[in-house]
Amino acid sequence: MKIELINLKQINDQRGSLVFMEEPTNIPFKIKRIYYIFNNQNNKPRGFHAHKKLNQVAVCIQGSCRILLDDGNNKTAVILDNPAKGLFIKEMVWREMYDFSENCILMVIASRVYEENDYIRDYSVFKDYKRSNI
Ligand code: TYD
Repeated sequence: MKIELINLKQINDQRGSLVFMEEPTNIPFKIKRIYYIFNNQNNKPRGFHAHKKLNQVAVCIQGSCRILLDDGNNKTAVILDNPAKGLFIKEMVWREMYDFSENCILMVIASRVYEENDYIRDYSVFKDYKRSNI
């Protein structure tokens, strides 16, 4: 599947670097929620779900990790290792996060508040949804 990476402008000066995320400048939805994943234990993978309506942008603001995206037809893995690169993850895309570096902080910008009933946590249910929505 096509990977959509957002180049976030990095502003460098003699003091260091700054990256901003702002709707609509570089984030393609109204931002409702931000969360971050860190302290990954024993390189345990995370994710293994899709969202019915949620759009997200994932940015590895420190360290690196890999994210596998699956639209039901094709799977593509991407490495996130740059705090100025955002991965746009649209609704109804299955995601798996793995290969976290020890210092990894994966920040996620989300279009909706947390709603457990927006999750599809069973891969065969995800495939069924995809089949019934063609
Ligand atoms: P989960 O979405 O399963 O994490 P991951 O996508 O990394 O596998 O969330 C883990 C737990 O945190 C789960 O109990 C739900 C809770 N949670 C919230 O309460 N609010 C949130 O915004 C998120 C993302 C998770």
